[in-house]
Amino acid sequence: MISRIKPCIFEPAIHGESTFLKQVAQSFGKACESYAAAARLQQQVALTALAMLCANHNGKLLDLGCGPGWIHPELKNYCHEFSAVDLSAGMLNKAQSLQLATAYIQADAAALPLATAQFDKVFSSLMLQWCQRPEAVLAEAARVLAPGGRLVITTLVQGTLQELQGAFATLDQKPHTQLFLPEAELIKAAGTVPQVTWHFEQRNYPLYYPDVQSLARELKALGANQVAGRSATGLTGRGYWQKLAVAYEKHRTAQGLPASYQVLFITGTKNAR
Ligand SMILES: C[S@@+](CC[C@H](N)C(=O)[O-])C[C@H]1O[C@@H](n2cnc3c(N)ncnc32)[C@H](O)[C@@H]1O
Repeated sequence: MISRIKPCIFEPAIHGESTFLKQVAQSFGKACESYAAAARLQQQVALTALAMLCANHNGKLLDLGCGPGWIHPELKNYCHEFSAVDLSAGMLNKAQSLQLATAYIQADAAALPLATAQFDKVFSSLMLQWCQRPEAVLAEAARVLAPGGRLVITTLVQGTLQELQGAFATLDQKPHTQLFLPEAELIKAAGTVPQVTWHFEQRNYPLYYPDVQSLARELKALGANQVAGRSATGLTGRGYWQKLAVAYEKHRTAQGLPASYQVLFITGTKNAR
């Protein structure tokens, strides 16, 4: 039987966190129909990450920040059954329409309404960069994992969209893109979760676009354009776009305009008791 667990209340642990969570949920909710078609980076990264789990039909898996669940048909090769968590009702509904998980749970990854030590594998791809307290998310992922269980998490780190940030910086000093933490900050956050033996590997994924508008359209289709200081962006006037396009042009290669995505693969095994 497939169960749907009602959202737990997003209790703010830091000032403004609940507003932020609502914005993230809304932004991804709006993108739930367009996401999968635009998710070329997300698909490459998640499939690479999935291969870091042991491929067998054993145990229970948790997909944390599942999005529309495009990867769920693959998960059957990695577990006996899986549960899916997402902050966004829209994303979760989309995933649930596939009817592949045992449970669909709308929750914040930093405060999971799930029993301790109930999963053998925790998988989370490209969600962590949306979380204001990565140490709390890593602690929750470790808590719900059984001793000896395996964790694979990917996130974007500093250097991601650096060309776009550089182009914006020639126009004004406002924050126009999400802030991506340096790898060292995530290693430090993981260090606060000592019951897991962690391993980190950073890889660069360059994507290419015909023009800066195509990059902006892709970010919008993914739901990744809304949260980070949207009010500060002022991305309305045609003149602003033209100036941005000119500033970005200096990066052009034969393949098009590059955008760097720095992906950190965080893997770990929970120590046996
Ligand atoms: C970039 S999408 C990744 C989706 C999917 N894992 C993939 O690889 O395509 C990020 C997802 O994380 C969810 N998310 C963001 N913050 C979250 C949080 N604090 N708790 C749970 N889910 C969250 C978003 O709603 C969104 O569906």
